[in-house]
Amino acid sequence: MNRIVKVIPERWTRRGEAAKDKNGRTLVIWGAIPGEKAEVKLVHEGQNQDFGLFEGTPEPSPFRQDIPCDRYSVCGGCPWMHLSAEGQESSHRDVVREKLDEVGLANVALGEWFASPDGLEEFRHVIKVGVGKSDQGSLRVGAWGRRDRRIVPIPNCNVAHPSLTATMRALAHHVRELKLWQYEPETDRGVLRSAILRRSRTSGEILVTLIAGRWVKSITELAEAVSTQVPDVAGFWVHFNDDPGNAIFRPDDEGVIRCRPVLGKETIEEELCGVRYAVGPTDFFQTNPAVAELLYKRVIERLDLTRETSFVDLYCGVGGYALQAAPHVGFAIGVEENQGAVLRARDAAQKNGRNAEFVAGQVLDVLPEIGKRLAGRRPVVTVNPARRGLESGVIEGILELRPRQIAYVSCNPAALARDLAAFAGGGYTIEKVDLFDMFPNTPHVETLTILNSLDEDEGPERAPRRKVVRKK
Ligand SMILES: C[S@@+](CC[C@H](N)C(=O)[O-])C[C@H]1O[C@@H](n2cnc3c(N)ncnc32)[C@H](O)[C@@H]1O
Repeated sequence: MNRIVKVIPERWTRRGEAAKDKNGRTLVIWGAIPGEKAEVKLVHEGQNQDFGLFEGTPEPSPFRQDIPCDRYSVCGGCPWMHLSAEGQESSHRDVVREKLDEVGLANVALGEWFASPDGLEEFRHVIKVGVGKSDQGSLRVGAWGRRDRRIVPIPNCNVAHPSLTATMRALAHHVRELKLWQYEPETDRGVLRSAILRRSRTSGEILVTLIAGRWVKSITELAEAVSTQVPDVAGFWVHFNDDPGNAIFRPDDEGVIRCRPVLGKETIEEELCGVRYAVGPTDFFQTNPAVAELLYKRVIERLDLTRETSFVDLYCGVGGYALQAAPHVGFAIGVEENQGAVLRARDAAQKNGRNAEFVAGQVLDVLPEIGKRLAGRRPVVTVNPARRGLESGVIEGILELRPRQIAYVSCNPAALARDLAAFAGGGYTIEKVDLFDMFPNTPHVETLTILNSLDEDEGPERAPRRKVVRKK
């Protein structure tokens, strides 16, 4: 191994490496760019796949740039940091195009590119931090490394907001001081697994959610020490998960993801397009709020909403599109599985004076109930599922509602393409796909696609009755 080969990779992998397929084998190259001549050091030979590291090129791609981070190859969290902003946009367009073409949607156009208003650095307002051990057995806090997912310290992360990086450093220091060892589910030894750090771009406040295998008193000392060192830390909570496996949260027998308060507030607030959202310790909220604001605005702009519209927001998180659409429509309802997020969404509806209802449950289970409420009225639906896309049966459930329009917001072009093809088969035309740079320096991209029903039957007009909500 460690032989040098010369190749021109042809495509991106899902994880953001460049790849060359030949004779049934794939060479996956860290740091290369499709179309650029590359000298590659081979570091691993697998059954069907070999792995290599980009060593140099005689003709750099116009998209290549100097990498602004000295931990690029160790951490691996930003595989496209060697691409300029233009290179990243072009590569995202290529990947989305390829996925649409693969499912026979070559006629669907790509639309606008929405760049990250905060740039390609310091835009992240959510980071996940792992707890582990070094080879020498010392306690480590940091990111999951590129090569073997072991924890690597990242004292200066380029893409996280500086106050989140400061919180991560404080956490790392005090976790080591207090000897809060990594929790091992196999032996039920140790304490901590990971932490989620979120910052509000609106207020600057930070919410820390620790994931622990058990409670120990020094978790309180940890919270006090970190919040003293970083005064922006407004809340510190702990969720217990002693299950083996990689899932961060473990819902209890009632399906609720519970958390124990350690210090300070339960929620921080983020304002997007005039709505103040509250975000709790286990809620999903967008990583890059500046891009989320562009996305929320665009969803409302591209949909045809009137006071007669019934608006259904599936996978709504803490209120997402339902709260944005409420002033424009006759009836708005959101569906979300995380019960805490639903409480936050209801509260935000009250506080922002927006007439929207929220239902806790699985989208698949709640769709028939929504169908009954609509009683034949044709809604406008938004879907914003997790990376896997729409679960089995959900597309059929949505088609039963006969939506006039659907807005599909996706962070996974492969799942998006699969689901769009199914909607096209169910009688929908697909408008252009807009792209949003929610996750700069990575192969991940957020997209917005609008689908229109071919069936012109208007259905009954009036939206369902709704509760009157007055601003608190
Ligand atoms: C990508 S997030 C989108 C949240 C929201 N639209 C926003 O903009 O913040 C997906 C959300 O769907 C929820 N979710 C995942 N699977 C679900 C399901 N089967 N039924 C209901 N909600 C689900 C998650 O808890 C998460 O809040």
